[in-house]
Amino acid sequence: MIPLNRRASLPRAGMEYFDARRKPHNVGKIIAALVLTALCIFVLKQSPSFGGNSVFSRHEPGVTHVLVTGGAGYIGSHASLRLLKDNYRVTIVDNLSRGNMGAVKALQKLFPQPGRLQFIFADLGDQKSVNKIFAENAFDAVMHFAAVAYVGESTLEPLRYYHNITSNTLLILEAMASHGVKTLIYSSTCATYGEPEKMPITEATPQFPINPYGKAKKMAEDIILDFSKSKGADMAVMILRYFNVIGSDPEGRLGEAPRPELREHGRISGACFDAALGVIPGLKVKGTDYPTADGTCIRDYIDVTDLVDAHVKALNKAEPRKVGIYNVGTGRGLTRQDFFIYLNVISICSYGELDFNKYVA
Ligand SMILES: NC(=O)c1ccc[n+]([C@@H]2O[C@H](COP(=O)([O-])OP(=O)(O)OC[C@H]3O[C@@H](n4cnc5c(N)ncnc54)[C@H](O)[C@@H]3O)[C@@H](O)[C@H]2O)c1
Repeated sequence: MIPLNRRASLPRAGMEYFDARRKPHNVGKIIAALVLTALCIFVLKQSPSFGGNSVFSRHEPGVTHVLVTGGAGYIGSHASLRLLKDNYRVTIVDNLSRGNMGAVKALQKLFPQPGRLQFIFADLGDQKSVNKIFAENAFDAVMHFAAVAYVGESTLEPLRYYHNITSNTLLILEAMASHGVKTLIYSSTCATYGEPEKMPITEATPQFPINPYGKAKKMAEDIILDFSKSKGADMAVMILRYFNVIGSDPEGRLGEAPRPELREHGRISGACFDAALGVIPGLKVKGTDYPTADGTCIRDYIDVTDLVDAHVKALNKAEPRKVGIYNVGTGRGLTRQDFFIYLNVISICSYGELDFNKYVA
């Protein structure tokens, strides 16, 4: 008969003998593990992002350390460049879902000195990571750019937008509250106004967003405003609602690089690049029956350099227990047709042969 429990039937003495023989081998393994652990701790401590030792983990008199979420993206990278130029200390957090590591590398190349810029690859929807980032770094302010930001896409994937924009803003606010970070500059949008009857759109225009992108941003704004009013929050908040952002660093170090898969959700800038590169046959004006001089819609285009300037000004003006809400545009709209004419002039001046106008339907 086979015994039911073979192991139990083994003589214990056999086990002891077996252990005793292996002991020297295990001691070796333990020593190796200890050496490896010590080595890892040493390597981590040398890393600029190691919480305990890094300059990023300490507040320094005269140095303002700004967390730039979405700093690998179009506007966030330009804002980081401007902050670094103005001697801020910058930590970029980005999950590179939309952004571009090339932008981060360009910034690292421009500002290689220790304590100027660090990049942390992380998803802001991951509460643990967000808390760890705040625990290991001494931020003075947050510029929260990170978001998915395509109106068309938001109607196809609304839940993604509410998560990415609204929930993630909540997580960031919670982390700011837990770690005593009091200043927030928030990227909002004119999409929170929807389709107002009265023009121009001012900060007093009622907000009735008409798509999940605008609604998610409006909800995030509401959360920020409610929290800032709560007792003890002591927040200094600036909410900037931008209009259509275009342009790039005048020295050509950064730019906008929309992903090919986002073309169909089209921002005007992406369509212009595609037309210039010959990816699409040309630019088309959609809608020619607007009540404007040439029948095309009017949009307010703000240059990214002016926009990031507004952010730095907002940061400098932010005051505890105060909320500033500002539309950021030029205040002078252009019809689509006029936009293309300007583009045409610029491209001809710059490159000679480009002619966007001939493509306009
Ligand atoms: N571009 C415009 O015309 C415009 C207009 C109004 C408002 N905005 C707002 O400005 C902000 C920046 O827009 P942009 O045009 O630079 O977009 P972008 O896509 O170029 O940059 C957004 C960045 O956020 C990152 N990101 C997204 N989700 C993330 C997450 N969960 N965790 C970490 N990183 C994440 C992306 O990888 C990307 O680098 C957005 O909040 C957008 O809503 C943009």
